[in-house]
Amino acid sequence: MPANLLEIRNLSRSFKLGGMVLGKRIVAVDNASLRLPGDKPQIMSIVGESGSGKTTLARMILRLLTPTSGDIVLGGVPLSVYGKRRNRKAFLKKVQPIFQNPFTSFSAQRTVDSYLFETALNLDVAANRKEAQEVVTEVLRSVGLELAAVKGKYPNQFSGGELQRISIARALIPKPSLIVADEPVAMIDASLRMNIVNLFRRLKDEYNVSFVYITHDLSTAYYVSDYIATMYRGQLIEFGEARSILNDPSHPYTELLLDSIPRVGNKWDENVVLSDTDAAEAGSAGCRFSGRCPYVREACRAAEPYMVDIAPKHQALCIMHNDYQTIDTGRS
Ligand SMILES: Nc1ncnc2c1ncn2[C@@H]1O[C@H](COP(=O)(O)OP(=O)(O)O)[C@@H](O)[C@H]1O
Ligand SMILES: [Mg+2]
Repeated sequence: MPANLLEIRNLSRSFKLGGMVLGKRIVAVDNASLRLPGDKPQIMSIVGESGSGKTTLARMILRLLTPTSGDIVLGGVPLSVYGKRRNRKAFLKKVQPIFQNPFTSFSAQRTVDSYLFETALNLDVAANRKEAQEVVTEVLRSVGLELAAVKGKYPNQFSGGELQRISIARALIPKPSLIVADEPVAMIDASLRMNIVNLFRRLKDEYNVSFVYITHDLSTAYYVSDYIATMYRGQLIEFGEARSILNDPSHPYTELLLDSIPRVGNKWDENVVLSDTDAAEAGSAGCRFSGRCPYVREACRAAEPYMVDIAPKHQALCIMHNDYQTIDTGRS
């Protein structure tokens, strides 16, 4: 059995806001656990409304943020062996980021190709400029661009979509096992989003690379994913194989999200964006979704739910399934 590609174990991250004494603590990611199998490259989407903790989770996977508690294990190796600075190069050979705004990923004063050459040389993919040129040519072709058309140009000479393609090309240079893309299509023209997402699907096989694809654009997520993780107010509330989740959404929030996207067979041109977290619900006891849940009952407000297996590769954080399990197995 190959090691899991990615394993997240009881991961939490909190932030202090305000003063030491009267300050408030925000738990941005709250005890999240998941396992992404390593038998083949995967695209795992992390979906959830704004403020649900997606970026905090991504930044921890990228080692840009230290967890408050818990572990992240990549290919059997705990990421804690890589410090924020220590072993940064070794880490970047394995895990590469793609950020939301391609115009801030590249300095306006530098040619875009200089970043690509620098990455190839710094990460020891190429020993000299000539080798670097071969590498850069190849990765640009993989995203549908020619070096000749990119060379010598500055960021403002490209569209957002082209620049994001170049970010993706740059991320491919060390042939990483994982690319973490935080809202990579959010700043891109809606009509071009599916192109970028389709590119992930092709590169996954071509480069044997997995993607953590963070988005609140659900239509692209459901279209591209092998696995889906849904976050709600810091908690991972459902995780599993995309097919299983699409056929049988097992958390009422995921169900709600699925109802809001265009159905298969319809056009995927509608941009579904989640609303912001309802601040009024903060502080209630029990299940965090109980205030919005159409199936809510007394028990939901009494105690925190825990993750329950729905299928072999599918879990949900909902008390409804505790009952189902009891019925299924005859246990009390
Ligand atoms: N550096 C920080 N300091 C304080 N609070 C933060 C910080 N980063 C994120 N948060 C808070 O953590 C929560 C989750 O944020 P984030 O991970 O950015 O969510 P998402 O990416 O899903 O929109 C939010 O309430 C946000 O305000
Ligand atoms: Mg975010």
